[in-house]
Amino acid sequence: MSDTKLSEAIKYERENEKNIPESERPGFHFTPRVGWCNDPNGFCYYDGKYHLFYQYHPYSPFWGPMHWGHAVSDDMIKWEYLPCAMAPDTEADNKGVFSGSAITLKDGRHLLMYTGVSSETQPDGKTRDIQTQCVAVGDGLTYTKYEHNPVITSKDMPEEYSKFDFRDPKLIYRDDGKLGVVLVTCNKDFDGRAIMFVSDDGFSWKFDREIIRNDRRFGTMWECPDYFTIDGKNALIVSPMEMLKEGYEHASGHGTVCLLGKDNGSQDGFDIEYAQALDYGMDFYAPQTLEMKDGRRALIAWMQNWSTSGSHSGNLKLYGQMTLVRELTYKEGRLYQTPLKEFESYRKNPVHIDNAVIAGETSLEGISGRHIDLDCTLDIDKADPCRAFKIKICADDKFDTTITYTPEDGVVTLDRKNSGVRFAGVHDCSCQIAPKDREHVSLRMIIDRNCVELYINGGAYVMSALINTPVEADKITFSADKNTKVNIEKYDIA
Ligand code: FRU
Repeated sequence: MSDTKLSEAIKYERENEKNIPESERPGFHFTPRVGWCNDPNGFCYYDGKYHLFYQYHPYSPFWGPMHWGHAVSDDMIKWEYLPCAMAPDTEADNKGVFSGSAITLKDGRHLLMYTGVSSETQPDGKTRDIQTQCVAVGDGLTYTKYEHNPVITSKDMPEEYSKFDFRDPKLIYRDDGKLGVVLVTCNKDFDGRAIMFVSDDGFSWKFDREIIRNDRRFGTMWECPDYFTIDGKNALIVSPMEMLKEGYEHASGHGTVCLLGKDNGSQDGFDIEYAQALDYGMDFYAPQTLEMKDGRRALIAWMQNWSTSGSHSGNLKLYGQMTLVRELTYKEGRLYQTPLKEFESYRKNPVHIDNAVIAGETSLEGISGRHIDLDCTLDIDKADPCRAFKIKICADDKFDTTITYTPEDGVVTLDRKNSGVRFAGVHDCSCQIAPKDREHVSLRMIIDRNCVELYINGGAYVMSALINTPVEADKITFSADKNTKVNIEKYDIA
């Protein structure tokens, strides 16, 4: 093994990060140290710090041979960059160090498991990329790849599964105390499967079982599984490719679903009680979770996806970012997401407006900005509801992004068609609030320079979207076609 590629990456990021002024990054949304990032990887708590690794191509703002970038944090709100942790520099991963996860071994060492991509000549003489699972061991700063990588290959699993799409290991401790790893693959028809391997030491692995097969219910092939228990329910999060739109529940393209139910531990033994889109916005994919030191379940995701990340001129020093870290809770048959409560200590300059009555279009004193946490609670008059309530954010004479609520059907729509996007694609997204919750609707928007996360009704629904509008466009207006009451709480975030 040569570590030249890794030292080159470390040197490159150190020298080039200086060229990126802080003002070109969002304030709280994690961005790569330089270049490109996609999925969060190895999201974990280890040795007194929270760690975030990420799919990383330092050398350009485009996807390329994958490395793992690395950062640490005390509160998961502000992150500190550490040197790049892994580069594609061994036989098993010379075409890319793809997504994976991290866990603490019983002897205290930190184990990373990732998908190694390499070329293999096929029986027909053609060369194709195959995917295997590899490990590296470290101390939270430097990592050494295991000399006998890969530790799991297609030879270790039933033949019906694909070795070309076999990736994204999520390490867990199982109830029986053994190490488990949840992976995704597919059958010959590109239909997703989540499978599990088991190990005593993290290095020697045996196929355990198929947890669940997709059977075309959620897209085709799946990516980036996560698997945990929340409030007594088993949860399996996957990011399906090629989703079909289903009412308001899933948009077409790349999406993320959370399957909640009971996993009885047998072959295909995961019974889905219900499935929910994790985020209804345009820019959300490949989330990972961890258990916080106080037991809370935290989630972070790539704030983009393969349907939305394609188009930019290349004239950028960095591209790609993560969502805020969110806490997951389970309430009344739904998974809720809220920004970590630690985020609140970064809020300044509160502005409260009680019982503002909106009719026509208006701005409100003190309510504007591109680095703000803004919560608007609508009080809909049941007897005489407005047809539509609109909030325009990141607005000026030319641009805006509009959030619309229509009480009659409970639909919230986020529309960024007018935000200055330069590529064709889906630029609006919607979700539908349950009938019982349609009169008191809270819309909490965290606007962080070039993006917004919209948390609806305490996080029962969330929408994430990038907004590439010039930062000078910082106006906010409210409008309704009939008198509508709204309570507002706004903070600057810094
Ligand atoms: C998901 C994904 C993973 C893969 C990685 C490659 O966004 O396609 O399945 O490991 O990105 O960068």
